[in-house]
Amino acid sequence: MSERLYLFDTTLRDGEQSPGAAMTREEKILIARQLEKLGVDIIEAGFAAASPGDAEAIHAIAEVVKDATVCSLARANERDIRAAGEAIKPAASGRIHTFIATSPIHMEKKLRMQPDQVVEAAVAAVKLAREYTDDVEFSAEDALRSEPDFLCRIFDAVIQAGARTINVPDTVGYAVPHLTTAFFRRLIEGTADSDKVIWSAHCHNDLGMAVSNSLAAVMGGARQVECTINGLGERAGNAALEEIVMAVRTRRDVFDLETRIDTTQIVPTSKLVSTVTGYPVQPNKAIVGANAFAHESGIHQDGVLKHRETYEIMSAESVGWTHNKLTLGKLSGRNAFRSRLQELGILPAGEEALNAAFARFKELADKKREIYDEDLFSLIGDAVATERYKLVSLKVVSETGEQPRAQLVLSDEGRECHGESVGSGPVDATFKAIESLVASGSELQLYSVNAITSGTDSQGEVTVRLQQHGKVVNGQGADTDIIVASAKAYLSALNRITLDTVRAHPQV
Ligand code: KIV
Ligand code: ZN
Repeated sequence: MSERLYLFDTTLRDGEQSPGAAMTREEKILIARQLEKLGVDIIEAGFAAASPGDAEAIHAIAEVVKDATVCSLARANERDIRAAGEAIKPAASGRIHTFIATSPIHMEKKLRMQPDQVVEAAVAAVKLAREYTDDVEFSAEDALRSEPDFLCRIFDAVIQAGARTINVPDTVGYAVPHLTTAFFRRLIEGTADSDKVIWSAHCHNDLGMAVSNSLAAVMGGARQVECTINGLGERAGNAALEEIVMAVRTRRDVFDLETRIDTTQIVPTSKLVSTVTGYPVQPNKAIVGANAFAHESGIHQDGVLKHRETYEIMSAESVGWTHNKLTLGKLSGRNAFRSRLQELGILPAGEEALNAAFARFKELADKKREIYDEDLFSLIGDAVATERYKLVSLKVVSETGEQPRAQLVLSDEGRECHGESVGSGPVDATFKAIESLVASGSELQLYSVNAITSGTDSQGEVTVRLQQHGKVVNGQGADTDIIVASAKAYLSALNRITLDTVRAHPQV
């Protein structure tokens, strides 16, 4: 029997720290349920002390998720630990993940604490966390830039205090694979009772080595990896779950480890996370990119047709790619719609959200003959979003040699308002028409369009990133008309800006 490798997913915590990726409670529940279906062992559902909304979301996830451990992050202080302990209370299996920085630069410049004080705070945090749960994880923030002797000292102390998992984060993405393996070996050898805990890696991707470093840590003795779907995360992101899982599975000859992941759920999970957070997946991204299994060159195509393994080391089906499966059409009823959403793991909680999604499905089916799973994902993203502003109608006139003009009607909490504007292009005119009504004064930071499926009747999916007074939000909109999709995306971003999501950042 191979040993187990535990997958700790932090999409809802570290992933959510990406600019604009803040999620609502309903969106987080949807993703948590999909992560459970995917088979992750631990879901880091958030940072309870960040805001009452974060604590509520963790609590709600702890109530619904039964087949994965639900975890909250907490800094090594009493307030954070108590907030985390309360938030995970309903969980069938709950974990508190407490951390403090251990590198000289962080201790001196950020914490302004002496090493002895850091050890003391870590021990006190772990002891208090143990009053809430037996499952306590301790992280030494910026471990890969910390002194190994000091790390062994603090790890000895927190293991004595009751920590069960020791996490060694490469917080700033500084590590190099062969040194990471040696670092883990050194820590495991130098810590008393190291065999009584699970060692864990948590790598950031600043130098593009997060997955390599995570796998190198595994070679050095780590048996838990912390990662996110699509490698989502602050700056260059975290290690991508799908890449780690498929590397371990495809190269069993090297790693000889088992995970509990149902790999056929990887692509659906990736799509859901992308839709909800407004972070599109780049086409050449390993495993979940649209081109990951596309063979362009004639020689490759010929080889794959003769014998798939000539150019493919894993099958597209094994990670959940379906061949643009036609799922539903105009005549499909509510039950068929509901059961397909259930199969895809994206059934929204509550009849109201389901009804909203079904209404959107009917609207789409009127415009587009064939509805694919991809269309359903974007539909659900819309249906669980919280909406103050809704697009009622849009008319755009665009003609060669003339300045485009947009006229629109939108509903602001049920009240209809009419606006119009000219612009340098139809999208610009549309956004200006919206601003003539909303006057948000936000700055457009990103605008991108993707086709959801192939064919000219495909829906265009637009992502818009807005910044207002330092707050960054993403919005997405999908429609067969990309100007309408753009308007929806802009309004979805505005709806998120108006949500009160003021929260503390755990590492600042
Ligand atoms: O990157 C990091 O150090 C973290 C810790 C809070 C675990 O995310
Ligand atoms: Zn991190």
